[in-house]
Amino acid sequence: MTSTDPDATTPRPATEEAATLLGSPDPWPGYAALLARPGLHYAQPEHTYYVARHSDVHRGLRHPDLAVGFPFRATRQLFGPTAIDLDAPRHRAARRRVSWFTSRHMPTWTQTAVIPVVEDLIERAATDAPVDVVKTFAQPLPTRVICRVLGLPDQEWPWIWQQLRPVIGHIADQRTGMQAALASRDALADRLQHALRIGVPHGSLLARLTAEAPPTSPTERTAEPLRTALLLLAAGTETTAAAVGNLFWCLLRHPHTWDEVADGTIPAEAVVTEGLRLHPPLHSTVRFARRALTLGDTAIPKGARVQLLLAAANRDPSHFGASTSWNPHHPAPPHHAFGGGPHACIGAQLALTELKLLLIALTQHFVLAGPAHPAGGFRAGPFHYPDELPVRLVPRTTPA
Ligand code: HEM
Repeated sequence: MTSTDPDATTPRPATEEAATLLGSPDPWPGYAALLARPGLHYAQPEHTYYVARHSDVHRGLRHPDLAVGFPFRATRQLFGPTAIDLDAPRHRAARRRVSWFTSRHMPTWTQTAVIPVVEDLIERAATDAPVDVVKTFAQPLPTRVICRVLGLPDQEWPWIWQQLRPVIGHIADQRTGMQAALASRDALADRLQHALRIGVPHGSLLARLTAEAPPTSPTERTAEPLRTALLLLAAGTETTAAAVGNLFWCLLRHPHTWDEVADGTIPAEAVVTEGLRLHPPLHSTVRFARRALTLGDTAIPKGARVQLLLAAANRDPSHFGASTSWNPHHPAPPHHAFGGGPHACIGAQLALTELKLLLIALTQHFVLAGPAHPAGGFRAGPFHYPDELPVRLVPRTTPA
């Protein structure tokens, strides 16, 4: 439906929870309150409609009048016009440029990037001392993997992770200033340019992107291959790091699941999927109404902001039943951790492979002996994950 439905109802006023929930480390009661009332919820000061129900988020992600292409989006300001900020018809070509993580390419990245990094992380963790999951696995895994995929030396990952902080901070909530984010983006672009000048490995993604680029200055900071590489560095690290932290958070509360993966009672994929549903890394994504439209039963005027609450939708009881319970044994209907529709996550297969292989390797090599000391809280904002997660992993004397 592309115009306003004459029968559409006016939105419910947003509760206090709706206005503040995205800035809260514990937004779950707020989401539950939104889900308990029908329709969309309107917060006047921000002229924003909050969408919580699974069916409404599903439609919102696919609605042709809900656009991503607004010039003041942080990702647009930092990376220029890439897939994440373009609507049809320009989106199609931009999306092709980031479509390097399909089934066709995955065997290469799995062999050359994911497996060696997972093996190295397991080897380094083989000690009785408590480890912080966030620093030991969550941050290095996706950062090292994407470095290897692009053709950068993966021992540079701490520097890359640090440079990405202001970029991600600005994308998350703009509390990190634009100037700091632009300076970090430029430092990363300079590093990519340097890699291209001295030569990247044959078959690496940087080599493939530059081979496909128009002949004019493929190494300029603003050139297509560098913009795409920067987008992938940002999109592929924070989200997957958050997913690793959130998965461990769930496993610490349900340690029997760890043992069930180790003894093959439950497939690792099912556990990863349930972790992503219950604690998705990205809680919300924004759209803008380019025309008046109706979503669910609510009329949205032209120009309004629409927050699609992926995390709330993942706990909608009308879609998932006992939606707040951890239940990896029952195959759940599709969740929204990777979005959906034309902008659905292009790196989902890579992320799922990283999470699955890490979980299998860890359960094979270690017993999860519990938290080393009480964990800190979750960080507030659209990217949602624990700040630290100290655990005791006891090496198995014989692999499970
Ligand atoms: C568990 C890890 C991940 C999660 C939860 C996640 C989540 C998402 C979500 C929700 C979207 C849709 C945003 C929207 O509709 O506005 C998205 C888009 C995207 N993701 Fe991911 N992502 C993950 C990993 C990755 C990885 C590993 C990569 C690349 C290496 C990646 C690259 C992208 C790109 C390029 C887009 C934009 C696609 C488009 O607009 O057409 N993501 N991701």
